[in-house]
Amino acid sequence: MSVAGENDGETVSGAEPAFKPPHGVVPRHVAAIMDGNGRWAQARGLARIEGHDAGAKAAHAITEGCARVEGIERLTLYALSYDNLRKRPRSEISGLFKLLRKYIRKELPTVMDNNIRLAVIGETGELPKYLQREVNAAVKKSSVNSGMMLCVALNYSSRREIAHAAREVARLAAKGELRPRQITQEKLAEHLFTAGVPDVDLLIRTGGERRVSDFLLWQIAYAEIFVTDVFWPDFRAPHLHEALKWYATRQRRFGALEDI
Ligand code: FPP
Repeated sequence: MSVAGENDGETVSGAEPAFKPPHGVVPRHVAAIMDGNGRWAQARGLARIEGHDAGAKAAHAITEGCARVEGIERLTLYALSYDNLRKRPRSEISGLFKLLRKYIRKELPTVMDNNIRLAVIGETGELPKYLQREVNAAVKKSSVNSGMMLCVALNYSSRREIAHAAREVARLAAKGELRPRQITQEKLAEHLFTAGVPDVDLLIRTGGERRVSDFLLWQIAYAEIFVTDVFWPDFRAPHLHEALKWYATRQRRFGALEDI
């Protein structure tokens, strides 16, 4: 989680020119399903956690890559799903928790230097207390910044997020504060973790699988979906630029007949 470049230590304000997507068409909100860490490690005879470690370096490079593109306001990274937490070996999960702490500690100064705000989505109250403290302190410290928002999804399930929002709305209705006809898309969205955030414009999935894995199901309603066979640990700025160039060619119609 850093804006340091492919060469560690380089910052957004460094010499590399900002990337300008064609025709100035830039997604405001980019989200990524960082898949392929395990297969990347397996192909090298390494432990899965080493794949995640390499994946964290890619997260770092892509954060920098997005921060260098004027117009990208938010990058959301799927670091740990609700199902990962329950269905993967305990050793892999505790390794991931420690890795997340390591990266927050290591890269917070760079986040601050580059004016990035951190946020988390997901049921973070179920994470180990030491990680919650680290995450909360980093989010608080970076809240004074005004640049791109880097949002990390931890213990996140989109279906559970929607169910939670529905419960909140139902509670208001039960108290008589909301009539059924006032339960609109907008009202429900106010109770998602992403309340107030623009929908995802570009969803990137690495590792070749073609599925959305319970990630931002509501928020990707009209997202353009870029799938690549590249494993996440190998994903770098040139791959991001390829995705952004492809995005700029899309005709986004939002259900209409013409571009809007
Ligand atoms: C999916 O690959 C990846 C994860 C479940 C974890 C992603 C976590 C990181 C990249 C580490 C740190 C994150 C940040 C934001 C610093 P997989 O294990 O399912 O891969 P596979 O499909 O090849 O087995």
